[in-house]
Amino acid sequence: MKRYTYIANWKMNSDYNTSMRYIEQLVPFLKQAEQRIILCPSFLALAQTYASLAPTRALLGAQTCSAFAKGSYTGQIDAQSLKQAGCSFCLVGHSERRTYCHETIEDTVQQAKQLLQASITPILCIGETAEQRSASQTFSILEAQLTPLLNVYEDSCAELIVAYEPVWAIGTGTIPSRSQLDEALAWIKEHIKKQRNKADNTTILYGGSIGDANAASCLESPFLDGLLIGNASLDFQKFKNIVSLNC
Ligand code: PGA
Repeated sequence: MKRYTYIANWKMNSDYNTSMRYIEQLVPFLKQAEQRIILCPSFLALAQTYASLAPTRALLGAQTCSAFAKGSYTGQIDAQSLKQAGCSFCLVGHSERRTYCHETIEDTVQQAKQLLQASITPILCIGETAEQRSASQTFSILEAQLTPLLNVYEDSCAELIVAYEPVWAIGTGTIPSRSQLDEALAWIKEHIKKQRNKADNTTILYGGSIGDANAASCLESPFLDGLLIGNASLDFQKFKNIVSLNC
C-alpha cells in the first residue's frame, strides 16, 4: 500500500499553550499512525513539539526560515537553529509568505540553499493566483517559481518535495477540479523529470482547503503522494479522518 505524506501547517492559527494541549491530544493517535506525518507549528512551539513527538514516528517541520546563514537580521531564524530544534523539514515559498512578507523567488532560492546546507528538507510551495489562472498563466507561474528552486538541488540527493498550492484554493473552501489537479500535478512531475533528468526521490503534494470531506477524492489522483493541510490539521477529528483514509 502506498505510504502517503501528510503535512500539518498550523500557521499562526494556534497559540503556544493551545498547541501544547493539542499535541498531547495528537500523540496517542500519532503513535499508531502508519503514514508519514510532518507537523509544522510556529517557531516558538518547535522544540517542545519535538520533545512531545519522541514516542511517535511523526516528524517536525518549520513554516519558514531566514535566507541568510547568520548575521544582524533582527527577528529572523536561521536554518541551523531549526535543525538544532529538531526540524527535518521546512516550508519554502508558502503563498502567505510571498503575499504578506513579500518573499521573492530569489528569497525562496536562498532559503532552500540554507536548508539543504543544514540537512533540512525543503517543502517547495508553488501555485498560481485566480487572476493568473484565468489569464492562462498557470504553467508559466509554476515554471517561474519552480525552475530556480530545482537548480538549488543540482548536486544534492535530498528528497525533493513539491506542494502544489493554488493561491485561490488556500483557505477558501474551494479545491481544483480533478482535471485541474491532475493537469497541474502531471505538469510538475514532467517538469521535474525534464530539468533534473530523474524523477526518483520526489514527493508531490497538494494543499488548499483540504478537509475530511474532499481529501479522499484528491488522493485518487495517481500523481499525488500526499497532502498539505492548513485549517483542518488543527481539528483533531478532521485531521485523524484524513490521515486514516488509506489505512
Ligand atoms: P488550508 O491551508 O488547508 O487552510 O487552505 C493550506 C495551506 O495554506 O497550506
